[in-house]
Amino acid sequence: MVKPVIYVTRKLPDDLITPYQERFDVRMWEKEGTPVPTETLHEEVQQADALFCLITEKIDRKFIEKHSHLKVIANMAVGYDNIDVEAAKEYGITVTNTPDVLTETTADLTFTLLLSTARRVVEAANTIYQNKWGDWAPFTLAGSDVHNKTLGIVGMGRIGEAVAKRAKGFNMKVVYHNRSRKETAEREHGLTYVTQNELLATADFVVSLVPLTSETKEMFDEKAFEKMKATAIFINASRGGVVNETDLYEALKNKKIAAAGLDVYKEEPIASTHPFTSLPNAVLLPHIGSATVQTREAMAKLCLENITTVLDGYEAKTPVT
Ligand code: DGY
Repeated sequence: MVKPVIYVTRKLPDDLITPYQERFDVRMWEKEGTPVPTETLHEEVQQADALFCLITEKIDRKFIEKHSHLKVIANMAVGYDNIDVEAAKEYGITVTNTPDVLTETTADLTFTLLLSTARRVVEAANTIYQNKWGDWAPFTLAGSDVHNKTLGIVGMGRIGEAVAKRAKGFNMKVVYHNRSRKETAEREHGLTYVTQNELLATADFVVSLVPLTSETKEMFDEKAFEKMKATAIFINASRGGVVNETDLYEALKNKKIAAAGLDVYKEEPIASTHPFTSLPNAVLLPHIGSATVQTREAMAKLCLENITTVLDGYEAKTPVT
């Protein structure tokens, strides 16, 4: 019997794939460190029933029209702005993502970024690596407190709630803005709903956790940075596209805001030539929000489960609706 084909766009460990090999023909892009070339991707997907992809693959309308035979596209991420979900729906292709399994891990990283930016951790560590640790002076490498400050979360989904829980341990006041109010979360975590402008004007830490959509595209622009306090710290752990990067660069350079901690960028990967790298008040990470072994395994497993259920003719476990 011909086995259904699953194409995976990166190499996955054998122990994750082996349980599926009896029933499926699992094919993978095996070369580590480089994404699958577009031509190869098209050739492989042409033979496949299911596609297991990452946020680096642009699954746009053209791609979907070309591969409308696919039954399921499983994205190994909670965000799915790399996929034209509407087009997939038109062609009856199920799109799935990986919510829940990465919530706590991504909240840990968001908080890591917040703490590292506030306490200038990278800059401080570099004084040792670059042999520049000089005199101990009263204000050398003095950062900003985190405890007792106001945290403003823009985008109150699962990760927002998990960040808010962590903030409570630091005795922070947590305000949030979201398309819709989350009254249960307000009660559970002691959150205060505010308008976007109020959040920008009052928060000591403005944390972006909004998905990238046509409404959120470049919502953090010159006007938004102007509304923030000069002492504010901006953290982005969602998608780079929600920020106007030129405006953020100017705001940081001209000290319109104090600092920024970023895990995501408009175009990824970025290199040491990116303008942000010249800013001492920017902490830059290479999109590692969900990057722990446990969570990445859980994400990969969820993708494979989603693919199996769809190929078996059932509803996916976590479809994008
Ligand atoms: C997600 O899940 O959307 C992350 O950004 C990928 O790690």
